[in-house]
Amino acid sequence: MKTVLVTGGVGYIGSHTSVALIESGYDIVIVDDLSNTRLDLLEGIKKITGKDPKFYEGDLKDEKLVAKIFNENQIDAIIHFAASKAVGESVTEPLKYYKNNFLSLVNLLEQAVSASIPLVFSSSCTVYGTPDLLPVTEQTPVKPAQSPYGNTKQVGEEIIVDTIAANPNFKAISLRYFNPIGAHESSHIGELPLGVPNNLVPYLLQVAAGERECLSVFGDDYNTPDGTCIRDYIHVVDLAEAHVVAVKRMLDGLSKEPYEVFNLGTGQGNSVLELIKVFEEVNGLKLNYKIVDRRAGDVEQIYADTTFANEELGWKSRFELPDMLRSAWNWQKNLSKLG
Ligand code: UD1
Repeated sequence: MKTVLVTGGVGYIGSHTSVALIESGYDIVIVDDLSNTRLDLLEGIKKITGKDPKFYEGDLKDEKLVAKIFNENQIDAIIHFAASKAVGESVTEPLKYYKNNFLSLVNLLEQAVSASIPLVFSSSCTVYGTPDLLPVTEQTPVKPAQSPYGNTKQVGEEIIVDTIAANPNFKAISLRYFNPIGAHESSHIGELPLGVPNNLVPYLLQVAAGERECLSVFGDDYNTPDGTCIRDYIHVVDLAEAHVVAVKRMLDGLSKEPYEVFNLGTGQGNSVLELIKVFEEVNGLKLNYKIVDRRAGDVEQIYADTTFANEELGWKSRFELPDMLRSAWNWQKNLSKLG
């Protein structure tokens, strides 16, 4: 049985990927500093899988902890989720972002390279900035980052490329996520925003649950059919499965290049107003929302060309927007019970 180290495995995408890995027959070791999540999600992983994964609570900036994890476990592959991810906070606290996201990555890479352990890196479609052409392929040029957070994803990828150039036996895959939403069908795991949510679906869920008054839709004067921004929303369970495929690809020696990049989206663009309408329809709810000014830094529209992920990675998203928004609401209802 192969063992995968999942950093940030108690987080939103990390917990869903932990479940997918266990269900695909992998042993997992989780490390998480719990800075942006709660142990409820680890309990959720246990409830869904019936397995109790080995868990280290700690910070990957701590080189000694990283060495200890690799000494105590026979790690075959790494999936690196653990990172700070709030765009706005990264603008006000850039050094926190550079320190956290870079030191963690470098500490992991030192271990990974010394034992040729393949790594999957959590990247983001944010690296494309405002794309000149849609849909976005993996060849679409990377644009200058619009936030320190975005810069940590771009430079993170570059750090990996440089590391591979100097260590040809080391392999990595960067997965560039579009907009992950939704939750596991069991409602035992899902997104757990601490504080005021920045992202659309977590905010919308709190409005639907009566925890917040009104959702602000940021701008309806964009050059799109209904004037609101368009994104490629992808079910987090689909995203999790892509990580399992990426790990297997490297462990089975199927990578075409030592470093590969895949876009993870559905290929379908939806506007903010469309998403609200689907949410209301599938859940039989009315949502209180109002149109406000544009949010600084928002891209008008972005969605993925999924051809390369479909054909080369052999992965395709299965779920559609109604599934995503139904599961998200079920999770929110369960969360209100957890308190
Ligand atoms: C943002 C980040 C992206 C990051 C991702 C996940 C920016 C520019 N991009 O993506 O780099 O990888 O989060 O953390 O910040 N919206 C509303 N009202 C709200 C919240 C959002 O109308 O209260 C709209 C936004 O204008 C946007 C869409 O909903 O059109 C999606 O927003 P969001 O969920 O924040 O994701 P992104 O901005 O696409």
